[in-house]
Amino acid sequence: MEVREGAVTIEVPEKRHGASEGSGEGVFYNPVQELNRDITVGVLRAVDSECGSYLDAMTASGIRAVRAAEAGYSVTGCDVDSEAVELARANLERNGLDGAIHRRNVNAHMHESHHDVVDLDPFGTPIPFVDAAFRSARNYVCVTATDTAPLCGAHFESGVRSYGAVPRNTEFHPEMGLRVLLSALVRTAARYDIAATPVLSHVSSHYVRTYLRLDGGAQAADRRIEKLGYIDHCQQCLWRDHERTLVADPTAECPECGQSTWTAGPVWLGPPHDPAFVGEAAAAIPEDAATAEEARDLLDSIAAELDTPTHYDQHRLYSRWGEPNVAMDEFLVTLRDAGYPASRTHYGGTTFKTDAGVDEIYDALH
Ligand SMILES: C[S@@+](CC[C@H](N)C(=O)[O-])C[C@H]1O[C@@H](n2cnc3c(N)ncnc32)[C@H](O)[C@@H]1O
Ligand SMILES: [Zn+2]
Repeated sequence: MEVREGAVTIEVPEKRHGASEGSGEGVFYNPVQELNRDITVGVLRAVDSECGSYLDAMTASGIRAVRAAEAGYSVTGCDVDSEAVELARANLERNGLDGAIHRRNVNAHMHESHHDVVDLDPFGTPIPFVDAAFRSARNYVCVTATDTAPLCGAHFESGVRSYGAVPRNTEFHPEMGLRVLLSALVRTAARYDIAATPVLSHVSSHYVRTYLRLDGGAQAADRRIEKLGYIDHCQQCLWRDHERTLVADPTAECPECGQSTWTAGPVWLGPPHDPAFVGEAAAAIPEDAATAEEARDLLDSIAAELDTPTHYDQHRLYSRWGEPNVAMDEFLVTLRDAGYPASRTHYGGTTFKTDAGVDEIYDALH
């Protein structure tokens, strides 16, 4: 089956009826990830004055490698599956593009070669690949993680094992998942005296995607470690607090209602985005990308997002208050008029960010 993405056309296997994604039947291709790939092309175009080579670490059909090559990059792809390797090579050729596709365990490849941008797009957790990725990448590491249940604490033990952090299944799970992932990535980079800085991140349907800029040096890496810390949260009254620290100092009892609290961490408490970078990536999304409008809206919303490590769900608050909810725009204006910074979030229409506490939000709206 032929599919068109942006300026390229590739061949992908016809999806067999009933086969689930990643079920091992044929080479993997997920049309839902086109948004993710369109944003990647925007990022690659935005950084092309400093970057020229791109590793599509798990290439499958070769779609990322083909799109990066079309954007002017010198591309390399790896896959352990020989069918994928053949298909990826044929897809580059079909578009008249050059690139090297290797049948290889990409961890071995990354320990031996360097690329300006390394893109990890594995099944599930990226953790088995991140050490090698930080050794291999010169400028940027891009990571997709589809194991959102471990990341946000819904599969607690698996999250602890994979990410070396305590994830908690709070009502702000997109933010929890993103910040647990960023914590593990920043700590992994720091082990090699690399300072990793997230410049763009999005939590979309069933996956987390992040782009990290790399700078060398132990001291710069230390500055990133200083942005890790812990979030305390009360499941009862939704009180929350956070502290940048290496040594956890949990508030055991909720100061508002006295219930015992949950502590998550170490999580990334620095900004997950650089708004200027997000703006440049949005401007560089090609017009012919099928999701161009959706991708730009998403990035605009990210650039305008308040930098708080937690968010609230407006519906959840109103159901606690036993009242019908106010329209989100009006709700946010009221909060801002009361003196509290407030914004929407990019991952959901009912979620918002503010530095106000639950009682302050209530008072502002009543
Ligand atoms: C989620 S798919 C990649 C999808 C692709 N990047 C895209 O955008 O459509 C994951 C791929 O990783 C490959 N893979 C798994 N383990 C690998 C390893 N150790 N080295 C290289 N490729 C690997 C699988 O064969 C599979 O094709
Ligand atoms: Zn409480």
